[in-house]
Amino acid sequence: MTPRPRLIVGNWKMHKTIPEAVGLVEQLAKHLRREPAAPGPPPAQLEIVVAPPFTALAAVASTLATHGLLVGTEGGTSRPGPPSVELAAQDMHWEDAGAYTGEVSPLMLKDLGCRYVIVGHSERRRYFGETDATVRKKVLAALRHGLRPILCVGETWDQRTRNQTESVLAAQLTEALTGVDKDQGTEVVIAYEPIWAIGSGHPATPPQAREAHRHIRARITALWGQETGERVPILYGGSVTAENIGELLAIRDVDGALVGGACLDPAQFARILVVAGSATA
Ligand code: PGA
Repeated sequence: MTPRPRLIVGNWKMHKTIPEAVGLVEQLAKHLRREPAAPGPPPAQLEIVVAPPFTALAAVASTLATHGLLVGTEGGTSRPGPPSVELAAQDMHWEDAGAYTGEVSPLMLKDLGCRYVIVGHSERRRYFGETDATVRKKVLAALRHGLRPILCVGETWDQRTRNQTESVLAAQLTEALTGVDKDQGTEVVIAYEPIWAIGSGHPATPPQAREAHRHIRARITALWGQETGERVPILYGGSVTAENIGELLAIRDVDGALVGGACLDPAQFARILVVAGSATA
């Protein structure tokens, strides 16, 4: 079986004006150039995605392209050295167009060059009324438009202490993925983000992450069969740093990370990428 590529996604959340976003990408480019070539898997095995706010997507794309870091631009994946970067949005509506004031459609994200879209982040579920039903519509819309959905699932601390982690994950996965067939399944990315670990400085311990990821793998394998189930990347998210990424990636079913706070520090994000490009599972 071919190993799954590593995938590191930086979720900027509601941070950075356009000039600040350009500055962050400039700094990241500088750090990536400076980092020594990592031993281990070649850069092509590491996929890097950044998810700036909607307002900065265009500026981030053009700044990445200027530095030869955007996938598909000169110097992209074929070049040795810094790996290339894909763009993600942090959310979207499921309709192509319509009277939905304030919303952004999949077609608009495609226009901006996005390849990924984060769907069902716990902050959207918690503060903006996102439900498993709307998450499912977004997953299906993303797939219809050739966007890879990064589907976020995860339990609260209360649910964990009541031993409900597995049932919560199972329900979130089942409801969000109903109607997604196994061919489409290969385009889906799952992010396990225990809500209590997000922004808390307390990531899941390796045994906690191992258990949850194993359970998620079992669910998607039951849904789509062994071959597809083994191909789906499962990311860990919640207080990931350059210090803890190595031990998380050493876990068999942890294929990458969804990084929040630490991706706003370009030196740290570059270190995370170097570890991810060199750590062996
Ligand atoms: P954090 O956020 O890394 O700041 O904990 C992760 C996320 O919410 O995706």
